[in-house]
Amino acid sequence: MKIAFVDSGVGGLTVATEFFEIMPEQEYIYYGDTLHLPYGPRPSMEVKNFSLEIIDFLISEKKADIVVIACHTASAVALDSAKTIFSKPIYGTVKAASKRAALITENQKVGIIGTEGTVKSKAYQNSLVNFENNLSVFAEACPKFVDFVEDGKLEGEEVLAYAKNCLKPLKKEKIDTLILGCTHFPYLSKIIKKVMGDEVELINPAVEMAKSVKTNIIQKNNLKKSKNKTEKIDFMVSDKDNISTLFWNGKLVDKDLISLREVNIFK
Ligand code: DGL
Repeated sequence: MKIAFVDSGVGGLTVATEFFEIMPEQEYIYYGDTLHLPYGPRPSMEVKNFSLEIIDFLISEKKADIVVIACHTASAVALDSAKTIFSKPIYGTVKAASKRAALITENQKVGIIGTEGTVKSKAYQNSLVNFENNLSVFAEACPKFVDFVEDGKLEGEEVLAYAKNCLKPLKKEKIDTLILGCTHFPYLSKIIKKVMGDEVELINPAVEMAKSVKTNIIQKNNLKKSKNKTEKIDFMVSDKDNISTLFWNGKLVDKDLISLREVNIFK
């Protein structure tokens, strides 16, 4: 099975690595649209068009069997259209995480943080109440978290001050479950946990999505057992110059795993 990841940049590696971990036997490719990063502040129609163009490229040219939209902003605005356009299975970040949150919350108060695009789309908010209609859902956009991670700032006073401010409304609502609805946020879980307190359960959607895709592949009897280590990944970006410090520092993924090249598919 060739699994392809779509992302606005290299942050989606937080999602991809969860897949490598539990399904090393699969073949992987990755497309990061670093030319148009960040997707978060862009109009939803634009993000949708970029995403559909990438998915088309990955399916028609790269012969992907499964497409995973690793970017939450893109998942929120492009998944439904992608599913109707393409015949291959396409997964987004929203559903599995919402299911998990709806299942584990005890006080029925769930928070979701993401980019402006993700929060505005209401994709998580709608999905959560679909799983459990008496949930109260509180959403906050925390766009600066993306900048911090891109700059390699994972802790420190500046990040903590922003986190306190951004998460204040969610703390006030006494949520007990918080979805980290952005590729970059799992890198800040320590600081987010510190602000929200130990009683709040953090959900990393990448973990939930990887598990759910694995279950689907197993059901289709397509889990080859031949390889026990992920092989080199064809890692394409639309602009090689626009790659985060975190990536270059080798913090996002083992760089030996990646064969990085610039492929601009946009007309
Ligand atoms: N990948 C985006 C997301 O998960 C964050 C970065 C961006 O704004 O493009 O929503």
